[in-house]
Amino acid sequence: GVDMLLRVPPSELKKHNKLDDAWTAINGKVYNITRYLPFHPGGEKELMRVAGRDGTKLFMLTHAWVNADFMLDSCMVGFLTSEPL
Ligand code: HEM
Repeated sequence: GVDMLLRVPPSELKKHNKLDDAWTAINGKVYNITRYLPFHPGGEKELMRVAGRDGTKLFMLTHAWVNADFMLDSCMVGFLTSEPL
């Protein structure tokens, strides 16, 4: 889309850990997963385990064959960064 992509440090990601405001990072990209929650084949509870944090490892452990990059493209909010100095 034409929206601004954000630079998201872990401290910001951490704030978005609620059902109605859930963000996660996968392979360096940050997604708002709130609208996807009801559609996740593995259930909301499992998906919420990565809310507010980097979900790359857990995602890869459960289904490395799933293309999150493609699936969540419209949910992308920005890029995971290190903490600003
Ligand atoms: C299944 C997407 C995160 C646990 C699936 C499937 C998709 C998907 C497409 C179906 C895969 C298939 O049938 O081959 C996603 C996306 C995620 C995500 C886009 C990240 C935003 C997670 C996380 C967990 C998880 C973090 C666990 C902590 C599962 C499980 C299944 C599943 C257990 C199997 C459900 C079943 O077949 O009964 N997910 N997933 N997922 N996912 Fe996720």
